Amino acid sequence: MIRNDIPVLISSERIQQRVDELGREIAATYKGTPVTIVGVLTGCLVFLADLIRRLDLPLRISLVQASSYRGAATTSGALRVQDDLLPDLRGREILLIDDILDSGQTLNYLVEHLKKLGTASVRVAVLLRKTGTQKVAFEPDFCGFNIPDEFVIGYGLDYNDEYRNLPFIGVLPQDAR
Ligand code: IMP
Ligand code: MG
Repeated sequence: MIRNDIPVLISSERIQQRVDELGREIAATYKGTPVTIVGVLTGCLVFLADLIRRLDLPLRISLVQASSYRGAATTSGALRVQDDLLPDLRGREILLIDDILDSGQTLNYLVEHLKKLGTASVRVAVLLRKTGTQKVAFEPDFCGFNIPDEFVIGYGLDYNDEYRNLPFIGVLPQDAR
C-alpha cells in the first residue's frame, strides 16, 4: 500500500479539468495540422496518456529519455539524453511534453536538440511549473499549473522512481526523503 498521509496539492478532479482545457487550447493552436508528440520519459507518461485522448488532431507519439537528477530531490545539473527511440522528425510539428518545469535546463536543452533535427516547429506543454526555480529563461507554450517550490509526487512524478501512480499531485513528506 502507498502511505495515505500524503498532502494533496492538486486533486485528481482539478487535474482532469485542467487537462481538458489544455487539450482544447492545444487543438485550437494546431487547427488540424498533424502533430508529433515527443514525451520526456518517464514523468510524462500519465499526463501524456490523458492529454492525447483530448487532442482532436492527427498525431503520432514518440519518446525521449532525459534526466537531470538521479534519485534524490535535488538537481545535479548533469543532463543525460537518450533519443534513439525517435523517428525521423524532419519537417514535423513537434509538441514536447513533460511533467514539470523546474530549473528549465532539461526542456531548454531538448527544444534546441529537436530544432537541430530539422523539425518544422517545436512547442512545449508541461503539466506543472515551479515558481522561482528557473535557472534558464524558458517559456512553455502550454502549462497546466504554477506551483510553489515543493518536491511533488504523483500523476507521473516520482521520488526515487516511486509514487508515479498516485492519481493526484502530492507533496513529498519530509520523513519520506
Ligand atoms: P529541470 O531540468 O530542472 O527543469 O528538471 C525537470 C525534471 O526534474 C523533471 O522532468 C522531473 O523529472 C524532475 N523534477 C523536478 N522537480 C521535481 C519534483 O518536484 N518532483 C519530481 N520530479 C521533479
Ligand atoms: Mg522527468
